[in-house]
Amino acid sequence: MDTLKVGIIGTGNIAPAYIRGCAPFGVIEVVACADLLVARAQAFAAEHGLTAHSVDDLLARADIDIVLNLTIPAAHAEVSTQILAAGKHAYSEKPLALNRADGERVMQAAAAAGLRMGCAPDTFLGGGGQTARKAIDDGIIGAPVAATAFFLSHGPESWHPNAGFYYLKGGGPLFDMGPYYLTTLVNLMGPVARVAGSARRSFPERIATSEALMGQRLPVEVNTHIAGALEFESGAIATVITSFDIWGHHLPWIEVHGEAGSLTVPDPNRFDGAVTALAGGSRDWQNLPLTHSINIGRGAGVADMAAAIQSGRRHRASGELAFHVLDIMQALEESAAAGQHITIESTLEQPLALPTGLADGELDA
Ligand SMILES: NC(=O)c1ccc[n+]([C@@H]2O[C@H](COP(=O)([O-])OP(=O)(O)OC[C@H]3O[C@@H](n4cnc5c(N)ncnc54)[C@H](O)[C@@H]3O)[C@@H](O)[C@H]2O)c1
Repeated sequence: MDTLKVGIIGTGNIAPAYIRGCAPFGVIEVVACADLLVARAQAFAAEHGLTAHSVDDLLARADIDIVLNLTIPAAHAEVSTQILAAGKHAYSEKPLALNRADGERVMQAAAAAGLRMGCAPDTFLGGGGQTARKAIDDGIIGAPVAATAFFLSHGPESWHPNAGFYYLKGGGPLFDMGPYYLTTLVNLMGPVARVAGSARRSFPERIATSEALMGQRLPVEVNTHIAGALEFESGAIATVITSFDIWGHHLPWIEVHGEAGSLTVPDPNRFDGAVTALAGGSRDWQNLPLTHSINIGRGAGVADMAAAIQSGRRHRASGELAFHVLDIMQALEESAAAGQHITIESTLEQPLALPTGLADGELDA
């Protein structure tokens, strides 16, 4: 396979993780970066051996095939559309966009140009997520009946140096952390058919206790506790809670319960973690040996897209998957506001499972 050249737009907090995560994959090479803050892009380029450009100059470089959009959520749709308009394949951080209409624009731009759109999270490609997927595909717990997924915290204002945006439009626990949990559920169980949600904004403002913002009042524009029921096309039902209003809990990240047994799935914000299974009628949970590598990081989804571009197969961390997840998130909010179930109009084929036996840095053609 050829090595496709990659540029980065947005050299903030998460960008170094992509440098580390892309490095093991021979199918991609990160060569350039850009940021609205020119000095930030220059410092990042110097640190990682890249060339710094303006956004326009990076997009004009003929040798770059794929551009990563690591900007803030409010800029995702606009920057992804810019990348596609320049004739490059695009891969965005999550969420794909802030709403369905913007997400649709991005997906239509990719389709019209015959280019790939990829989107984070790609954590479901890790050893934890893929071992769980294989266990379900192999029938270890039988057909899924139900699942639970819980992200509960008291918000990022105790540690994040710039926590304000988490409480503004486009933030909140559902749009920030929901993509990890919902992407994992869809990878394990296929598409969602309809949802019902309840939501509340428990505090009108938050008080930052991080060193950087100590004592600052952060206005709250979004729901901070969202509880949802998801009915999958398969008929399985998941209970999902995302919250910034909870001080402590004993709930697991994700569990999938099948006709013949139950499965625990590790933290969907990570590539590793233990997978355990219980056979129906037994009381003993068994650790399942991991069937896939945990030596991967953010960048696996981009590399997978680069391999897929060359062979013509579907890529796994796809815009289509991210759009379905966005559709579910928006529908949960709409359901909570309207007091009724919302049908999910988008659907997709379950992502391809990763084959076993791949060496680190290797991908299937
Ligand atoms: N920080 C994390 O731990 C983390 C983890 C996982 C995912 N993410 C996701 O990664 C994305 C970026 O998060 P971050 O924490 O790195 O944010 P950040 O604010 O640290 O970095 C974003 C960068 O994008 C630049 N930028 C914004 N708009 C731009 C535009 N239109 N053109 C060019 N550059 C632009 C900003 O100047 C900034 O340098 C978000 O979608 C976030 O959800 C972050």
